[in-house]
Formats: sequence, structure tokens, C-alpha cells
Amino acid sequence: MSVIDEIKARIDIVDLVSETVQLRRTGKNYSGFCPFHPNQRTPAFAVFSDSGTWRCFGQCNEGGDIFKFMMKKEGWEFPEAMRYLAERAGVQLHVPTEQEKVEAEEHENLRNLLEGAVTFYRHQLFNTPAGKLALDYLQQKRNLTIETLETFGIGYAPGSWDAALNFFNAKGYSTADLVAVGLVTEREPGKNPVGVIQKADVYDRFRHRVMFPIRDEKGRIAGFGARILNPEDIPKFLNSPQTPLFDKSRLLYGLDLARRAIRTLDQAVIVEGYLDVIALHQAGFSNVVSPMGTALTEQQLFLLKRYSKRIVLALDPDAAGNQATLRGLQIARQAMDHEQDPIFDARGLLGYEARLQADIRVTTLPLGLDPDEVVGRDPKEWERIIAEARPVVIHVMEALSADRNLDDPKVKNQIAAQVLPLINDVPSAIERDTYLQRLARLLRVSERALQEIATSSRRPRPSGHRPVRKPAEQLLAPAQIPAAISSYSLEAYCLGILLRRPDLLYQVDRRMQNGRLPRLSPEDFLHADHQAILRVFQESVEQDMAEPLNFVLNSLSLAMMELADNMLDRTAKLDPQDERVIEDLMRGLLTLRRRRIDQELEYRRFLIVEAQEAGDLKATQDAQTVVKLAKVRRFIDEALKEYTSRSTTGVRQQ
Ligand code: UTP
Ligand code: MN
Repeated sequence: MSVIDEIKARIDIVDLVSETVQLRRTGKNYSGFCPFHPNQRTPAFAVFSDSGTWRCFGQCNEGGDIFKFMMKKEGWEFPEAMRYLAERAGVQLHVPTEQEKVEAEEHENLRNLLEGAVTFYRHQLFNTPAGKLALDYLQQKRNLTIETLETFGIGYAPGSWDAALNFFNAKGYSTADLVAVGLVTEREPGKNPVGVIQKADVYDRFRHRVMFPIRDEKGRIAGFGARILNPEDIPKFLNSPQTPLFDKSRLLYGLDLARRAIRTLDQAVIVEGYLDVIALHQAGFSNVVSPMGTALTEQQLFLLKRYSKRIVLALDPDAAGNQATLRGLQIARQAMDHEQDPIFDARGLLGYEARLQADIRVTTLPLGLDPDEVVGRDPKEWERIIAEARPVVIHVMEALSADRNLDDPKVKNQIAAQVLPLINDVPSAIERDTYLQRLARLLRVSERALQEIATSSRRPRPSGHRPVRKPAEQLLAPAQIPAAISSYSLEAYCLGILLRRPDLLYQVDRRMQNGRLPRLSPEDFLHADHQAILRVFQESVEQDMAEPLNFVLNSLSLAMMELADNMLDRTAKLDPQDERVIEDLMRGLLTLRRRRIDQELEYRRFLIVEAQEAGDLKATQDAQTVVKLAKVRRFIDEALKEYTSRSTTGVRQQ
């Protein structure tokens, strides 16, 4: 049982609310005058002791559990309500440890070490005979000015196995520290216990290379990228290893220097290489960043979106064209430090775009040229290339149809089969429509033919064959959700799905709106912990610092984190590819709404009967509400029917 469950189990909502509101029994529930809006005529405030929730059916039209009640009553945030109710319930809350502080101090120490390394490598570049070779290369071969080299803090790592090691040992840094920041490498990793690494067991990681300091968006040093000078050496680029400070999936090279320009120009450009970033900045295009030899991640896009929602990917033509996989940005490189990167495909990109509500466009470079070379030839050409950036769907359409025989019906079919799922994923109806028109024109077929495929094949798989249905037991919610499943666990289940599949949020909203129902909102949940998690979740989709799930987990208190963990456990078995996940989620959410409406209808009807018996006329207002509620209930039922029948066929197919 989580702390929250425990508090709820120990505090009776009727007791708690009775301290503020005079309650009277209304059927099996309680009612009174709402304490949150001035009104002494209608007892619009109801407490449902079974579910431990309350609701104001009047002006506030709001409800929740005991936490929400205290938050609303005292104007508190969740943690304060939690502290108060925990104390009242006699439940011990976990006090955070000192560990975080210690960690922060450690990081500070390691950062200082890395800053020292920036200085050390710069000194090697500018003031040593060996560095002269690197300096010549950068100035003459790469046309970089001294000013640029200084702005980017570029340096040179001497071709020695222990120059950095000796230098920093002499400055008092332990060998273990040097390993921790990735400046030296262990000969046999794991041979020594952490923290007591012998000097003889390590060597300088970076030797005879040009050093590019990599900083986070605030300019704090995180690690290095290092390019070879000797063409025989491999790999061509060597980065710092994954360390507490260096997380390639959440850094963008150059962002500290680019963010201002990105904001003023309201556009960010992503290129592939460090040297491209540097050359473009030198040429006056300062809104450019690059990932670090890994596929672009959602975290990186989040990070960028903070400065501008308009993001352009400048891709190599070979990477961009390839079978609509849009692998781009680095999948194919054979560097030694490349882990298995997730495939960065067009569909994934559209998912990011939708969730981030960003405007992501793609442009392709001339065959065989790097941005570095393009801008070196003619800065105007760079401007033109950027101006030609097109939306992802259009880019894919064109890439797929280049060099194909568009008179061949089979070819048309193939292209449609690959593009339609992408179009289906686009949340905006206007955009979807426009893309359909474009595709129809491109393939010279009627829009109607395309539309037919588009609607009949909800999210068809690119591979074309039917998905294997998973056994129904893997999904909690059967075709019809039994009344015995509590709203609490149903809410938790729905949230669990969303946390695992943040991309479903916009699909839910779309489906709700198609069913003439409102979008998902925290009000869909009765329990304050769930409301809070949903709120953070919605924020996570809006923010730009981290991946949604990470963001949610990072923003929650310990108790809530425990809860979110539970939700993730409940949905751990879901197959993310299973199309029924969205149906399950819809069924769960609609059932919750349906229950809520039933509860309110029951309550209103009770009031009407009561008023009529007393010969009171104010019941007409309740009667109107009942009519409205009944209408919404019809919409919900219609929507529910769709998911119920679908799933039944699914189950019968087993
Ligand atoms: P490129 O090979 O295109 O290098 O790799 P570049 O930046 O254009 O450098 P020059 O112009 O050849 O000198 C692009 C990016 O891919 C990553 C690096 O981040 C590089 O900047 N990469 C490349 C690696 O991480 N490892 C490699 O072995 C190669
Ligand atoms: Mn290059």
C-alpha cells in the first residue's frame, strides 16, 4: 500500500469534510452547501463515501478526494496537503537524505576538473610545437579563425599516453576522478574497486586529437568530442564516455552559443557534425547545433523547443532518402563508441513533433557536401537550403517517389502504404487533409481512394502483414469493464498506459473530440494523486527539458513516485505495438466518464424528487442539467460501443 493509499484508508472523507461543511445524508451519499463558492440555496456539494470523493455540481463543477479537498480549502499544493493529512492520519513520511547535496558537490568537483582540461588542451594547441600541427590544420584546412577557435574553446590533446594523467595527478586530482570524467581509460575496467584505481592501470583517452569541449545549454562543461589528425587513426571521432556529466542523449553541441540566435530567429537548425556547427557559426549562422554522433532523441528536441518550436533538420541526401526511414543523423557511422541507437524514423519524428507541438522540417544537402563545405563555398547557398525545408510528411513523400515510376499502380500502392500511416499520425485535421491532397496529386489518384485506405487502415504497419494478436489476458480491461473494478484502479491503469505511451495523449484527445466529447483533463480523475500525476504528465508533454516519463518521475514527490511506479508495473506487460492499447485506454477513460455522469444523474434525480415533494420550483434547473447530462451520456455510450464491439471481435479471433 502506498503512503497515499494508507492515508486515504485512515481518514474518513465524511469526517474530514464535516469539519467545514454541514452534511446531510442524501440517499447513500451526503450533500451540503459548497464551501468553495458562495451559495446558500442549492446543496450542490456532494460527498460520496464509497469512493472517498467529493464533488461540487454547482458553480465550481470540481471534485476530488481528501487531498484535493484540503488543497482547495487551504490553497495548498499537493505536498502541503500530503504533509497535513499524513500527520492527521499518523502516517510517517519519508524525509529526503543528504545524498543529493553530496552528489551535487561531487559534480562540481568533476566539472572543475573538466574545465581544467579545456585550459590544458588549449594550452597544448596554442603554445606547443606539437600543437602547431593541429593549429595549422584548423586554420588552413578548415579555415577557422583564432577567434572561432577561442569561442569554441578548441584544443589539442598531445600524442602521449599519460600527459593529461600526469598533469592532473600533479594538480591533486585522483586517478579515480580522471576515470570518472573520462579523461583517462582503464586498461582492464573493473579490475580495481571504484575509487582506488592505480595510476599504472590507466592511460590518456585522448591522444593526438583536436579537442572540442561539449557544454550543456547553460555553458557548463560536460565532456569532449575529439577528432583525429592522422587520417589512419580510428575512430574518426572519439567522445567522452557516458559519465554522470556527459549524457549524449540530452546534450546538443553548440547550444550554449546558439540559444540566443535560435530565440531571436525563432528557428533552430540541426546539422550532423561539430565542425559544421563551428563553420556555420563563423559564417554568421549562429542558430545551429548538432547531436554527438548519435541519433537525435526526443530529449534533445525538447531542449531545443525551449528556444524555438521551429526546427529544421539538415540531412545528408543519402541518409534522408533511404526508404523513408529518414535515418539521418548518424545511424550508419561505425564509431567505436556508438551504442545501439534507437532508429530515428519519420514516424518517430512525427510523434515527437506532435507531442512537442513543434514544427519540424527537413532539408537536404547537395550530394556529397557537408554544411561546412556548402557555407565555405557560398553562404547564400546555405540560406537557400534552409529556406527549402519541408514538413516531414512531404519530405518523405518526395524522397520515396524520387526515381520511381509513378505510372505503375503497384508503385503507387507501395508509396501510399508507406505515407498514409504517417499522415494518419498527424494530429491536425487541416494538415492531414493537405497531405492527402498532395499525395493524391503526386500519385495521380483520387483523394477518395486514398481517404478510403486512410480511414480503413487505422495505423497500418509499414511491413504490411497483420499484427499477431496478443492473448487478451495481457490487457487488464476486458471488452466491458466490470462495475467491480474501482474507479481508483481504473484511473491508475489509464495513467499507467499514458505514462508508457505519452504519444497516445493526442490520439485520445482526437478520438474524444471526434465523439463530440471534451479532451482529457485532470477533472477526468477523481483522485488528487491521479489528478496531480496527469497534470504533471500534461506538463511533461509541454516542457522541453526531458523525456515525458523522466520529467514526470523527476517532478513527483517520493510518495507520488511510488504511485507512478505502481502504475508502470500494472502496465508493464503491455505490448506497445499492440493497437488495442489505445482502445483499452479509451474504454477505461470513457468508463470513468460514464460512471461520473451516472453518479451525478443519480444525485440530481434525487434532488428533483426531493424538491418536487416539497413543492419547490427550483428543481427545473436540475431537470435541465439532467437533460444535458443524458445527452453527454449518449455520446459516451456511442463512443464506448465502438471500443466494446472492436475488442470483442479481437477476443473472438483468439
Ligand atoms: P562526419 O564524419 O560527417 O564529420 O561526422 P564532420 O563533423 O563533418 O567532420 P569533418 O568535416 O569530416 O572533419 C559527423 C559527426 O558524427 C559524429 C561526430 O559527432 C561528427 O561530428 N561521429 C562521426 C562520431 O561520433 N564518430 C565517428 O567516428 C564519426
Ligand atoms: Mn565535415
